[in-house]
Amino acid sequence: MEAIWTLGSPPSGQFSPLSGQTRSDVVIIGAGITGLTTALSLAESGMHVTVLEAHTVGAGCTGGSTGNLYSTLAKGLAPVRKKWSDEVLRDVVASRSQAIDSIEATVSRFGIDCGFHRRPLYRLVAQGKESMRDALEEERQAMLAAGLTVQEAESNALPVPIITGVKLENQAQFNPLAYVRGLARELVHLGVTIHEHSAVRDVDYKRGVVETEAGAVEAEHIVHATHTPKGINLLQSVMLPSREYGVSARLKPDSAYPQGTFWVLDDFHSLRSYHHDGDDYLMVIGEKHKVGEGEVDDVYPRRLRDYLSDNFDVQDFTHAWSAQQYSPADELPYIGRWHGRDKVYLATGFAADGLVWGALAGAILGDLILGRDNRWHERFDARRFTPVKSAKQWAKENVSVATHFVPGYLSVSKLESLDDVAPGQGKVATLEGEKVAIYRDDDGKVSVLSAVCPHMKCLVHWNDIESTWDCSCHGSRFDTQGEVIEGPSYHPLARRTKDS
Ligand code: FES
Repeated sequence: MEAIWTLGSPPSGQFSPLSGQTRSDVVIIGAGITGLTTALSLAESGMHVTVLEAHTVGAGCTGGSTGNLYSTLAKGLAPVRKKWSDEVLRDVVASRSQAIDSIEATVSRFGIDCGFHRRPLYRLVAQGKESMRDALEEERQAMLAAGLTVQEAESNALPVPIITGVKLENQAQFNPLAYVRGLARELVHLGVTIHEHSAVRDVDYKRGVVETEAGAVEAEHIVHATHTPKGINLLQSVMLPSREYGVSARLKPDSAYPQGTFWVLDDFHSLRSYHHDGDDYLMVIGEKHKVGEGEVDDVYPRRLRDYLSDNFDVQDFTHAWSAQQYSPADELPYIGRWHGRDKVYLATGFAADGLVWGALAGAILGDLILGRDNRWHERFDARRFTPVKSAKQWAKENVSVATHFVPGYLSVSKLESLDDVAPGQGKVATLEGEKVAIYRDDDGKVSVLSAVCPHMKCLVHWNDIESTWDCSCHGSRFDTQGEVIEGPSYHPLARRTKDS
């Protein structure tokens, strides 16, 4: 599954893997928008920065995002207002607006060719969802309280039957992959060292050493810019990991399609257009579910394709992809110092709004490391303690973890023979007394891995849509050979010796 953003982006694979021992002022784990924005801030102040990326620049959540930049939140500002105050609402909107401005300034300063445009954003109630009117009104009030200028949406904003909606002007869109790859190129000119295919296997915080398979970086400051921190962190117990899908289609020539970001309150579809090489594309994002608990088969991308076909002039479907999100328990992201470690930093809990939070986090983390004041640091401090605001989600998340924790997990069937696993399929089963994750490729070759997630010992599940092993507890995901794709686990699934 590949996102549409490879159209119009520089190629990947520009940076060699880390090998041997090296030293740096700061080591950043993760080359998405958070890591690279942090690197920019530090490099401009003369610090030597090394960035370690497990895959390629932008290949994680940044490259799987919508490319929409907005000062509000996809879930809405009303949930923030319920838990916090109007002052916090205003801070959310002001900090996010500032982050969008800083992205725009970076695009213009370096001349990054990423299709940055200012566009309106719509929140629309679809016909048949009259029950959502009250929720929209509540959201409109929250937007006004946050200081936003809210307009009525045009009734023909989309060729989808709409009963009401609101519109925010002066939001933005870009190609997120082209942005971070363009930024990476500029960072190298500023002295930043970037290594791709350099998955971090361990961090020795006492010595300040970050280790990969083939090398190590010693640094005074360590930044986890990995969407969720690597290893074990208390925040993982209060965040819900979920996945959402995207599908893009080329539209028939002369199809009328307005420019903007459109959030349709039916079952929630996010729509936007993208123009590349003379063609108009339309993408839809939706079908969110908790990691490791999705349906089987092609069901989510298929539903999204049907949605586009039913409502728009589709010529052909071009891309399908998915991306992960971590929802914070108290509705705000966690950005700042790691609990108990003053020179270790993290940024997480971005929900579906990670591009703008990532850019903001880069500025905050850069200032923290440089010892500069930052206006927003206290508001989003990763060390904040909000038990009342976080209680509901904490309980929900930990019931989920308990369900998937190995000793309590009862519903694993016993496998009599490896022949029970069909080509292209994966299955978790008990084999000779051990819980294993078995995968048979299309040529019939079988891989047998431990089904126990190395992070905190939950059981992984087969993801039929993406052919991956996913852990519901804190969102670690592994490929069919057990290698880490994303999430907090440093280590791959342990191999068993039954491959055939
Ligand atoms: Fe935490 Fe798997 S991601 S146990």
